[in-house]
Amino acid sequence: MMQQPNLKVNIGALKLQNPVMTASGTFGYAREFDHLMDLNRLGAIIVKGLSLKPTRGNPPPRVVETACGMINAIGLENVGIEGFITEKLPFLQNLYPPLIVNIYGKLEEEYWQLAARIDEVAAIDGIEVNISCPNVKAGGMAFGVDPQAAYSVIRAVRQQTSKPLIVKLSPNVTDITEIATAVEEAGADCISLINTISAMAVDINTRRPKIANIIGGLSGPAIKPVALRMVWQVAQKSKIPIIGIGGIMTAQDALEFLIAGASAIQVGTANFINPGVTTEIIDGIEAFLIERDIASVMDIVGTLET
Ligand SMILES: Cc1cc2nc3c(=O)[nH]c(=O)nc-3n(C[C@H](O)[C@H](O)[C@H](O)COP(=O)(O)O)c2cc1C
Repeated sequence: MMQQPNLKVNIGALKLQNPVMTASGTFGYAREFDHLMDLNRLGAIIVKGLSLKPTRGNPPPRVVETACGMINAIGLENVGIEGFITEKLPFLQNLYPPLIVNIYGKLEEEYWQLAARIDEVAAIDGIEVNISCPNVKAGGMAFGVDPQAAYSVIRAVRQQTSKPLIVKLSPNVTDITEIATAVEEAGADCISLINTISAMAVDINTRRPKIANIIGGLSGPAIKPVALRMVWQVAQKSKIPIIGIGGIMTAQDALEFLIAGASAIQVGTANFINPGVTTEIIDGIEAFLIERDIASVMDIVGTLET
């Protein structure tokens, strides 16, 4: 009988008991899942994307199901950073897993102001920066699709915080490695990918888009092969750890990302189908390691043979 395998992974200075985290926007502020699962089993908790001020988001319909996935255009509805600190943090700070706060802005200064505020809050263990948002000063082009804009915003955030800094990449680019290199040079400690893929759906009866915002973001199993490809491409070039995201529904999906080069993974859309899925994925990874006599989950990271 072999010993229990070691599921621990490090993401820069963050120490995780296992590689399974919740993806921003699909797990609320975690309390919503408290009665459905044991939150303390998670590797880390990532909460809904926060802005400086509370945001109401887009008009409905904001979500539509598609083949093997869903499209959403929630419009980043959230309680704002101060609302988060006063209303949500008291519950979250008593949980065991590291707490990572996801942030976004429409201007570079909003990003670094958020980072500066979060840096003062001891109970927040890390920051994930969502750069998939439109940059108002650049005519609405997302920060994350231009290496210079991505570098500039992450550099500004880095200067405001010494907390572990994860940068979450947009897949809506031609060469993902170009953006990954830019944010690594700007001081990111870790790269997470992918955010949703730009998409739309049409209702043939009304001839209207199925989402009020017309365009939304595709997530779920449909995007997994794209996400895996991007994780693998970034892993070839990058020296910092990678967190894989996109269509992870099962332990097998998670293992595919680890083999492709991710040190940890996030589960998003799957939480809507099965709120206990993250614990099942943790158990499944452990079972895989036991079956194959592998001592540590790190022993499989980046072991893809090509
Ligand atoms: C309803 C919904 C809301 C989301 N909100 C955010 C968000 O606030 N910030 C962010 O960085 N990503 C957000 N995402 C993207 C997810 O975190 C994740 O990157 C994406 O859904 C791909 O993973 P999945 O296929 O496992 O869902 C959201 C996704 C969904 C489906």
